[in-house]
Amino acid sequence: MSTESIISYKEKIDAAKLPQHIAIIMDGNGRWAEAQGKHRIFGHRNGVKAVREVAEGCAELGVKYLTLYAFSTENWNRPKQEVSALMELLFLTIGREIKTLQKNGIRLNAIGNIHTLPASNRKALQEVMEATKHNTRMTLTLALSYGSREELAEAARQLAEDYKSGKITLEEISASNISAHLYTKDMPDPELMIRTSGEHRISNFLLWQAAYTELYFTEKFWPEFNRNDLFEAIYDFQNRERRFGKTSEQIHQQTTTNY
Ligand code: FPP
Repeated sequence: MSTESIISYKEKIDAAKLPQHIAIIMDGNGRWAEAQGKHRIFGHRNGVKAVREVAEGCAELGVKYLTLYAFSTENWNRPKQEVSALMELLFLTIGREIKTLQKNGIRLNAIGNIHTLPASNRKALQEVMEATKHNTRMTLTLALSYGSREELAEAARQLAEDYKSGKITLEEISASNISAHLYTKDMPDPELMIRTSGEHRISNFLLWQAAYTELYFTEKFWPEFNRNDLFEAIYDFQNRERRFGKTSEQIHQQTTTNY
């Protein structure tokens, strides 16, 4: 047994310093399956278990927002068979997981070009979002047919419309006004972004929102990622110094004067 599996990170976490919002790029399903001589969809199916693990793990700790990159705008370019299998898996999972969501007080939310999803997926999403809308423990957002550049382009179009119709002045086009036109307008920016499978990229995920996000990369493939891995990532996050462009000294002074 490796030492890694013996360390339990949950008790190391400082409950007062939890990230409010965690975003995850769930990567490596295909490679994990192929390494075992299995079809890629086998990896996606096993990826659902990891989704359940992190959703329950976040709710258990008190993380308020969890955003998962489930399908990017670029993923439409995958082989047709894989896209249909992923859509079917999403459809089945959304319906099947409603009990887990209710049991854990989780509200389901979706961001992205939702209108491009198959009608059955849109309907299932709508139903589960409606059924869970009063849950307040945590918001689980699925980024589906999501692309950050498209999200920003859409915000720019909306602001241009508002300017053209005289609703806003040029000066009112500010960073906070851009944020207010993104899909994520009702959430805080993620403090921690995790990517599995050893890839070190953001891949068009929450580009604007991640300006000050701490990035955490792990070699593990997504289907292998479990609750303790999530806790390890949070523990790692809590041991970083977030300076937001200030000096370390200023940050320490701020902390002391806050008491
Ligand atoms: C990336 O692995 C994963 C995806 C494109 C899909 C993620 C979907 C799931 C985890 C299953 C369903 C999710 C929900 C929220 C119900 P990859 O295929 O790019 O892996 P690779 O890089 O090894 O090819």
